[in-house]
Amino acid sequence: MNKNFLTLGIETSCDDTGVAVLRNDNEVLCEFLSSQIKDHSRFGGVIPEFAARKHLENLLPLVNAALKEINISGRELDLIAVTRGPGLMGSLIVGVQTAKALSQVWGVPLIGVNHLEGHLFAPLVDAQDLEPPFLSLIVSGGHTEIIKVNSFGNYELIGQTRDDAAGEAYDKAARILGLKYPGGPEIDRRAKIGNPHAFNFPVPLKNTDKIEFSFSGLKTALLWQVKKFENEGKEIPIDDLCASFQKSVTEALTAKINLAVKITGIKKVSASGGVSANSALREALKNNKNFRAWLPELKRCTDNAVMIAMAGKNSWTRKKFFEADVIPDPSLHEL
Ligand code: KG4
Ligand code: ZN
Repeated sequence: MNKNFLTLGIETSCDDTGVAVLRNDNEVLCEFLSSQIKDHSRFGGVIPEFAARKHLENLLPLVNAALKEINISGRELDLIAVTRGPGLMGSLIVGVQTAKALSQVWGVPLIGVNHLEGHLFAPLVDAQDLEPPFLSLIVSGGHTEIIKVNSFGNYELIGQTRDDAAGEAYDKAARILGLKYPGGPEIDRRAKIGNPHAFNFPVPLKNTDKIEFSFSGLKTALLWQVKKFENEGKEIPIDDLCASFQKSVTEALTAKINLAVKITGIKKVSASGGVSANSALREALKNNKNFRAWLPELKRCTDNAVMIAMAGKNSWTRKKFFEADVIPDPSLHEL
């Protein structure tokens, strides 16, 4: 095995253009991220067509910057790992087609990565002591699920949301409260100065014996509360509403993680995806006495290319194959 195995990771599934180079399994040589948040926040959400155009503008300059930073040429890479789904079709096409072209030109093997498997690897970048079996909570804008990692490459989906994803719930709640997109970081920030006990929002499915989530009812409860203030002509206590909403989401997530730990007997839990950056969730997971928690660094909770490079390298090592024809798949699900 080549000791200095270099993987170029490319992530363009949604609105972040990410490029990273990894040495061997988890040594990050460089990472670049071009966020489009400012471009999309004025529309209150991601505009797919616009996101794809931005990836097209940003991706190759970032690849060049990465190679320049570590002073290698593309031909010296050992693998290119690119997100092939799930995500926005236009965004995925830009990443995959660019990766295919670079792979052909440089003669470097290419591997397609499931974005969710990427998130699953994010906590492992800094955690050499996290070994399967463990439970992985993936909480992002598009997904909320608990995956039982039997071994790398052998995953069991043991729980998921019935409706909205946790990040989607944060984004919709923020819109109800008139806060800017993306809503999660905004609510997190406002919640720090609010009273989490000011409103008694429901904790969806807290006491059921199934590992499942539901956030649409909670969002509706928030909407009614806001309408009540509006109808009474009263000022909306945004900070308290944010703190109380965040408390309910956090309790719903931790209740089901506790249940998953109880059912499986696995006491190792990792969390990843944008919502794993949430301060209340991080506290709740770190302080939970039922299990030990592993969390990614804040910058690797949201979409990034390091996690894609890591998942791609791991998969390549296991399967020893590469794909000449990676097909983008916006609704790719099964890990
Ligand atoms: O993983 P990610 O970057 O993209 C997807 O794959 O979906 O996650 C983005 C989601 C958004 O819904 C955003 O509001 C949420 O993660 N998010 C947060 C926080 N930071 C990002 N939610 C709650 N608290 C945060 N601090
Ligand atoms: Zn993501």
